[in-house]
Parts: sequence; structure tokens; C-alpha cells
Amino acid sequence: MNLIQDIIARAKENPQHIVLPEGTEERTLRAADMLLRDKVAKLTLIGNPDEIKALAKELNLDHIAKATLLNPANHEKKQQYAELLMELRKKKGMTAEEADKLVQDPLYLACLMIKSGDADGEIAGARSATGDVLRPALQIIKTLPGISCVSGTFLMFLKDNFYGEDGLMLFADCAVMPNPTAPELAQIAVSTALTARAIAAIEPRIAMLSFSTKGSAKNEVIDKVVEATRIAKEMMPNLNIDGELQADAAIVPKVAALKAPESKVAGKANVLVFPNLEVGNIAYKLVQRLGHAEAVGPILQGMAAPVNDLSRGCSVEDIYKMVAITANQAIALK
Ligand code: ACO
Repeated sequence: MNLIQDIIARAKENPQHIVLPEGTEERTLRAADMLLRDKVAKLTLIGNPDEIKALAKELNLDHIAKATLLNPANHEKKQQYAELLMELRKKKGMTAEEADKLVQDPLYLACLMIKSGDADGEIAGARSATGDVLRPALQIIKTLPGISCVSGTFLMFLKDNFYGEDGLMLFADCAVMPNPTAPELAQIAVSTALTARAIAAIEPRIAMLSFSTKGSAKNEVIDKVVEATRIAKEMMPNLNIDGELQADAAIVPKVAALKAPESKVAGKANVLVFPNLEVGNIAYKLVQRLGHAEAVGPILQGMAAPVNDLSRGCSVEDIYKMVAITANQAIALK
């Protein structure tokens, strides 16, 4: 877990402005207090300032005084953000009345701050469902040039150092795209490669997973993975990527030697790209629970500015780590 310490150190070196829309949520407030104490990021907490201050006092959180508190119902940029929202969504039929109402929703407000250059990134989800956190981000912040598909990676810290990069692997997509097409799967691979470099500080060796290795079975879902591998190579010609590979051929050298002897990735993959969200989400949870791996994420990738979604069961430590990761993503995008 030295990587997490490195990520926190990188965030401290170049403090980013992170907005926390759930400013009256207790775990968020406790994490914010520690982040401000440790100078990991500059923070804006969205919520009624009186409520935030009262909760901070009750919980003895002295450092919350260093945060900017933003009342979504009443602040100086409210009209400006409402106009921006209407401008961005008018093709989708948004009216001024709808924009005036939505701009008071902390999850929309946070994205409008980022879009306006008033913050560098956002973390939410301790109290909100994934879709509610993602939707405003997808509508307002949108994707990076060349990417149309946002996806989510987990850093998997494995019990066994033999696998991946000294026990570290990246799994994607485990959070967003239920059923990616071949071009979307290629984008997930490319986005995960960028996350591997920017956040995990490793050079990716990407296995595009399926239930077949190099033509051992035939099915249209395998064709999708083969096509995605081809497109990803086109998008990033220097990428060390191979597919389709079965999971054992991807990570076990002896199996790789039998099933894919020519492959430069097989047997030593440190990034696993799953064919769809069902497989990715189930796989990371099984490795986490049955394999006792530590799963950190999802780290959302492909967005023009970083927004990350917490699990509603998250701990204070999870929020702390995800703020540091979000700050690192913001630094990498600048
Ligand atoms: N990348 C980029 N843009 C996207 C994506 C994406 N992956 N998905 C949707 N969009 C855009 C759409 O193009 C649309 O833009 P527009 O309004 O400007 O045209 C906008 O986002 C809204 O799209 P919808 O499809 O209407 O939004 P919807 O709410 O139906 O779905 C969502 C988006 C929330 C991401 C959905 O795909 C979803 O729920 N995914 C699964 C999330 C989930 O439950 N994950 C598992 C739990 S997380 C965990 O266990 C770690």
C-alpha cells in the first residue's frame, strides 16, 4: 500500500481544489477534517453552512474552518451557473425554470463549479446512488477528446505479490458501462492504460479477457474482444495489449506458455479489461472477498475532469484516499 502513500504525497505537493457535494454527511465531514489537517487538498463543502458548522462543532472537527462552505440555495454565482447549465443542456430541452431548480442540487452544482474552472474535481456518493453522481458529470463535464465512454477502474492490492505488478493489478470496467461495444471496450482499455500510468505509476500490460485464448473458442462475444484489442492498438500504437485471453493465460506464466506462447502480455498482465460490466463488477468483488484483496476505487476515467463515486458503505479512510486519487487525476489532466 506504499502506492497510496505516494498518491497522498503527490496530492500534497500540488494541492488541488476538490468539491464535496455531501458537506453535511458525517463520514465526508470527518474525512474533510483530516484532509484539511494534512493539507492534502483545498476543499469546498456544499451544504447549509450553519448545519455544517454545527455538525463540525458537535464532532469536534476543528479543521473544517479551513474549508470553503457553499450554500447551494444562496451564493453569488448561482445565476451564472444556472445560465451555464441551461446553455449546456438547451439542445436536450432544458428550460430556465429547470436549470434554476437543478443548480441548487449539490451534485449538479459541484459539476458546474468544475466546468466553470472554480474547482478541479469532485467526490460524492456516501449518500447518493451511483447514477445520481454520474449523470450530472456525464451531462456537464463530459468526456476527454477522443473518448466517448466513461468507465471505472479498481486498484486491486492482492495478497500474492507474484501476480500483476508486485501484487498490484488494475481491473476495468467494474463500475459504469453495462454492455460496451467493441470501440467502447477499446476506449476502456486506453483509459485504463492512462490511469495505470497516472495513478498507479506503472507501465500497463493489458489483457483483454474472455472465455477463449487466441481462437480456442468461437462466439460473437469473443469477436467483440478481438475487435476491441485491434482498435485499442490503433488508438495507442505503443500499448502493450493482447487479447482475447482467458484469465489464467493472462496471469499465470505456465498457462501462458501453453496457450499463448507468442504473447508479450500473457502470463504477466497487470491490467485486466473485462468484456462487460457484469463480469467486471462480479470479478472484482470475488477477488476482494474470496481472495482478500484490497480494492480501491472505482476510479472513474475518461472524463474531462475527475469526478469519483463512493460506495454508500464507504469509510472515512475510503473518502480520504479517493480525494487524494481525485487530486492526482486532476494533476495528470493539467
Ligand atoms: N460515458 C460517457 N457518457 C455517458 C455514459 C458513459 N459511460 N453513459 C451515459 N452517458 C451520457 C449519455 O450520452 C447522456 O448524455 P446526454 O444527456 O448529453 O445525451 C447522459 O450521459 C445520460 O445518459 P443516460 O443513458 O440517459 O443516463 P442513465 O442515467 O440512463 O445512465 C449511468 C448513465 C448512470 C452511468 C448508467 O449507465 C448506469 O447506471 N451504469 C451502471 C452504474 C452502476 O450501477 N454500477 C455498479 C455499481 S458501482 C460499483 O459496484 C463499484
